[in-house]
Amino acid sequence: MSLALNRENYFWHKVHSLTGVIPVGYYMVQHLVLNSFSLAGASYFNAVINFFEGMPWYFLLATEICLIWAPLLFHAVYGIFIVGRSKVNYFEEKYGWSQNRMYTFQRYSGVFIFFFLILHVSTTTGAKYLHHDANLIRFNAWHDKLTGDYYLWTILYVLGIAASSYHLAYGIWNFCIRWGITISDAAQVKVQKFSLAFFVVVTVIGWAALIGFIVHPKDDSQLALNQSPTIVSIR
Ligand code: HEM
Ligand code: HEM
Repeated sequence: MSLALNRENYFWHKVHSLTGVIPVGYYMVQHLVLNSFSLAGASYFNAVINFFEGMPWYFLLATEICLIWAPLLFHAVYGIFIVGRSKVNYFEEKYGWSQNRMYTFQRYSGVFIFFFLILHVSTTTGAKYLHHDANLIRFNAWHDKLTGDYYLWTILYVLGIAASSYHLAYGIWNFCIRWGITISDAAQVKVQKFSLAFFVVVTVIGWAALIGFIVHPKDDSQLALNQSPTIVSIR
């Protein structure tokens, strides 16, 4: 069996499919739920950040590498290979049925998320490690970012959340067919309805998080927060 990454391969395609749901899909949902604590106010969101920052640095880093970065990097890079191999069929009349459009749009959304995540992770986790400053990911930084720069960051996040949520929701539907979980037409229609509801709920949770950062005032006590044990020990 060839394990070459640059052509269609059953094994790697299955791994790609699995990583999309677990752990990456799971991570994204819990990530947006935790971010929506911003709706309760600055101190609640900062409590979430401080929880993670309070972990031993080697534990946090190992968890990030094994459970987030490695699977996401594989899914992203192999996803780009898949997009490169596929023919762009959205505009061809004969393929213009809705299922095909949704499938094509999932691939486009993957490319968009790719660039969105490079920007997002480098300006959050990346900046935090680079500048040894966890305040860069606490509430006040989000408030400033999302209310400044002519709301360009807000627009980017509104789109990034919707694209990621669509990509995962449609992905779950496709995943169930690929892994033989839904075989009959009736079962596929049921999962499609679930996926639609899932898309709406996850998008609303993500957008709600953005609203929380914008409407709540900054937290003066954040300035006094000591840099976390994580950051200090890496330094
Ligand atoms: C409301 C919108 C979002 C907010 C407020 C937000 C917030 C954050 C924060 C604060 C971090 C830094 C975590 C840390 O270094 O400890 C982070 C990292 C990250 N975010 Fe988001 N995020 C949002 C949307 C998304 C979306 C839609 C995705 C898509 C999957 C995503 C994926 C990631 C990833 C992969 C990381 C790096 C994880 C790590 O290394 O810990 N985020 N985000
Ligand atoms: C970082 C950039 C990403 C790229 C380039 C990408 C690319 C792709 C592509 C091309 C597919 C379709 C695979 C196929 O046609 O067989 C796909 C499927 C999928 N992706 Fe992504 N993706 C990315 C991020 C994500 C994220 C952040 C999540 C989770 C929130 C995710 C979850 C999924 C799921 C669940 C599937 C369905 C798997 C299946 O078809 O069995 N992807 N991805």
